Amino acid sequence: MIELKNIVKVYPNGTVALDKVNLKINKGDFIYIVGESGAGKTTLLRILHLDEYPTRGEMFAFGKRVDKRTKPYLWRRKVQLAYQDFMLIEDRTVFENITLPLQVKGENYSMLVQRAETVLASLGLRDKMHKLVRELSGGEKQRVSLGRAVISEPEILLLDEPLGNLDMETATVIMNFIDAINERGITVVMSTHHMVKRETSPKRIIKLKNGRIIAKGYV
Ligand SMILES: Nc1ncnc2c1ncn2[C@@H]1O[C@H](COP(=O)(O)OP(=O)(O)O)[C@@H](O)[C@H]1O
Ligand SMILES: [Mg+2]
Repeated sequence: MIELKNIVKVYPNGTVALDKVNLKINKGDFIYIVGESGAGKTTLLRILHLDEYPTRGEMFAFGKRVDKRTKPYLWRRKVQLAYQDFMLIEDRTVFENITLPLQVKGENYSMLVQRAETVLASLGLRDKMHKLVRELSGGEKQRVSLGRAVISEPEILLLDEPLGNLDMETATVIMNFIDAINERGITVVMSTHHMVKRETSPKRIIKLKNGRIIAKGYV
């Protein structure tokens, strides 16, 4: 459903963040992206979310070429990213933040409430719905950011180290939540440092180092 061909990303300061990355993402895949800090994981996810454009190389999706003419707001109806640094609006409530993708689509208020309640309950945040984001812990903000990415039921879910701020117990709950989403047929691409051990079907894994894919396999 998405294909990256020889993707190179050079930031304006000259840093080569991705170096000839080739990757095919198929419908329903669960793909882990691993590698040390600075390997290029976030850059790869941001390119897939159209926050950044490749310096060289090509991207194809849903049978079409993706480039600067592709409208990000339309793209993000299909592809959502939960950011490593959350990107939440701190002085707005959890409800206002989490329902943003639905507001953009023009959904009505009762739909927003219903979806927010369901998603927050499955993330263990039901009682935080009307709290301001700045009143939350790091782990809670992380889950709100995940909730915002899933609430509009995208076809592809991109997750940038979604377990980074969570204790082991919460991380296990969140991994089960992500697995359940994938089992419904939603494609998941997730960067991570820690793998939570669990009984699921094999997942694809790609390892980045200095912007290059140095290993591909299954875990
Ligand atoms: N906006 C930016 N401007 C310049 N360099 C950047 C920028 N973002 C990331 N980098 C650099 O690109 C490389 C890859 O970074 P990143 O994709 O964030 O890696 P990871 O997520 O694996 O830690 C690093 O060397 C990082 O310092
Ligand atoms: Mg990163």
